[in-house]
Amino acid sequence: MAKLYVVGIGPGSPEYLTFKAKKVADSADVLVGNKRALDIFPENEGDKLELDAGNMESALKAAVSKVQDGKSVALLSTGDPGFSGVLKPILKLSGKIDVEVIPGISSIQLCSARLQIPWDDADLVTLHGKGVSNNILDVIDNGKPTIILPNFKVNEIAQFLIDNGVEPKRKAAVCEKLSYPEEKIVETSLKQILDEDFSYMCVMVLY
Ligand SMILES: C[S@@+](CC[C@H](N)C(=O)[O-])C[C@H]1O[C@@H](n2cnc3c(N)ncnc32)[C@H](O)[C@@H]1O
Repeated sequence: MAKLYVVGIGPGSPEYLTFKAKKVADSADVLVGNKRALDIFPENEGDKLELDAGNMESALKAAVSKVQDGKSVALLSTGDPGFSGVLKPILKLSGKIDVEVIPGISSIQLCSARLQIPWDDADLVTLHGKGVSNNILDVIDNGKPTIILPNFKVNEIAQFLIDNGVEPKRKAAVCEKLSYPEEKIVETSLKQILDEDFSYMCVMVLY
């Protein structure tokens, strides 16, 4: 059936994929997603369209066009599509086609679970696609942990906070490559984050 499924695939390991996401993605006529996402569904025998940083808009338009041609398309989003995922850009392009969102486990949720933070007691901030801005300074002193999705690297956030007067010894945590065999959880300080090299695949918490 012609439909665009916007599918959250969780933080990366198939262990954190929902049954619903797997069922929809395995049976779609067309799969659209980055390589890491496409690799999770080797059983899908349909067409594949690989998303990367350079072709996002054209790939999303192609996904919509395939649905208009009568295909079922699964657009794969890491984590949950509604948190700094593909939901926002695809809704701007999808027009009148039938869209269904399948939620996934966000990296923010897995980070909260690993650090045992009830996330209704935390502030969630995404810097993704925005860069570090002063907005973050408005929330970090309200007594709640701030769970931050970085724009690129957590070192950049630590540097920004220290430059703006936050105590370098302030407690912070970094959750890197959540759900993968190389997963690393570091409970540390802002200063220590500056001195360590983390990949782009991190969630940071400032206590
Ligand atoms: C485009 S955003 C997508 C966020 C996603 N929609 C979510 O709900 O997790 C990509 C960023 O999410 C974070 N991220 C995604 N998967 C992750 C993982 N397995 N471990 C740590 N951070 C992850 C990283 O900060 C990465 O740069």
